[in-house]
Amino acid sequence: MRFTVAIDGPAAAGKGTVARAVAARFGLAHLDTGLLYRAVAAKGGDPVAAAQVLTPDDMAVEGLRSLEAGQAASRVAAIAEVRAALTAFQRGFARRRGGAVLDGRDIGTVICPEAEVKLFVTASPLVRAHRRWLEVGGDEAEVLRGVIERDARDAGRTEAPMRAADDAVLLDTSQMSVEEAVARAVALVAARLG
Ligand code: CDP
Repeated sequence: MRFTVAIDGPAAAGKGTVARAVAARFGLAHLDTGLLYRAVAAKGGDPVAAAQVLTPDDMAVEGLRSLEAGQAASRVAAIAEVRAALTAFQRGFARRRGGAVLDGRDIGTVICPEAEVKLFVTASPLVRAHRRWLEVGGDEAEVLRGVIERDARDAGRTEAPMRAADDAVLLDTSQMSVEEAVARAVALVAARLG
């Protein structure tokens, strides 16, 4: 079975939570594509060279979930050659036998435009910053500034900018519990699986 669920959206919108829950519910493989860009930035040196030789071990490095790693990821993610070096792996993963869920910024638009289910998960910047702050702590206003800065960079870049695919279902989780957001996504996938 080839079956791809593409989940895109801005920083801290809940993509990862929804993606993991959908994958577990339907027995699909899951790839957090943000981790690829975080790992490339964390490797240091020339980001293009880093992307070309990225290994699973690089994704197990400590600290990849930090705010700083997120900002660094968003900078290297704007480089066309970095994205190109990571494309084949993501496409292969998306179309692997047994089905897959990928979350990121360009899954429904660039990596897998033929995905059977496309979701664009979003929430207001304030809500997203609050959620991220609950995870990482620190100064909440600073977290909000970071979220806004990263979204602007991700949506404004020329190469694979973050945007909802024309045929994506929008899921605004500003007023939703995790359970509700997951239930909506699960219902969509179940309907498509038949
Ligand atoms: O978890 P969060 O939404 O905060 O970030 P992430 O999904 O780990 O992504 C980190 C950064 O990687 C983003 O800000 C994007 O710049 C970049 N990214 C991308 O360009 N394309 C993807 N498919 C996934 C992430």
